[in-house]
Amino acid sequence: MTESLTIALPKGRVLRAVAPLLARAGADVDLLLADDRTLVRESASAGLRFLLLKPDDVPTYVEYGAADLGVCGRDVLMERSCEIYQPLDLGVGRCRMVVAGVAGRAMPAGVPRVATKYPRIAANHFARRGVQADVVYVQGSVELAPITGLADLIVDLVETGATLEQNGLIELETVAPVSCVLVANRAAFKLRHDRVRALLDVLRAAVNAAK
Ligand code: PRP
Repeated sequence: MTESLTIALPKGRVLRAVAPLLARAGADVDLLLADDRTLVRESASAGLRFLLLKPDDVPTYVEYGAADLGVCGRDVLMERSCEIYQPLDLGVGRCRMVVAGVAGRAMPAGVPRVATKYPRIAANHFARRGVQADVVYVQGSVELAPITGLADLIVDLVETGATLEQNGLIELETVAPVSCVLVANRAAFKLRHDRVRALLDVLRAAVNAAK
C-alpha cells in the first residue's frame, strides 16, 4: 500500500467549501468536517491524510514538505512569497480584495494611511498605481480603522459586502479577484507525480462539473 498523500487544509469556511470537492476524490466528508479538536484526519481508504491549519500556515506546511498538497486562498499566496506550485484554481471561496473608504468622505490632501491585514498586497497595489501610501498593519476588524480615524482607507477582502455596508464604507477599487487554490510541494509534485496527477484530474473534473 502506498503512503497517503498529505493535504493541508484551512479550518473554517474554506474547509466546508472544499469538502464536497475532496469527497469526489474519496475523502470522508463526515471525518473532515467532524466538530472535534483532532488536527490530523486520515481518510485511509482514499489514501488521503488531512492536516487542519490556520489559513496562513498552509503554504508553510506545503513549502517545507510537511504536506504534499494544500488548499489556500489567493490572498494568502499574494501576501507571501512561497516556492510552491499552484496547479488548480478550485473555484470556491470566491471574493475580492478591494480598497475601501468612508462613504462620502474626500481623500486627505497628503499621503493616505491604509490599514490592512495584507501590507504587501496593499503596498504593491498603490506602488503599481504610482500613488504614495502609508500602510499600517492590523490583524482583523479592518473596517474599524477608517471610522475611528486610524486610517483613511483599507485594503481587505469583500465577499457579500455586508461588513462594508454595515460600517458605512464603500468599495473604491478592486485590487484582485480571490478564490481557493490547490497548491503543491515542488518535490512531491515530481516524486509523487502519479498520485498527485490522479487527484488533480478528479478535482479538476469536480471543479468543471460545478461551473
Ligand atoms: C473577512 C474580511 C471582511 C469580511 C468580508 O473578515 O476581512 O471583514 O470577512 O465579508 P463580507 O463582505 O461578506 O461582509 P473575517 O470574517 O475573516 O474576520 P476579521 O474581520 O476578523 O478578519
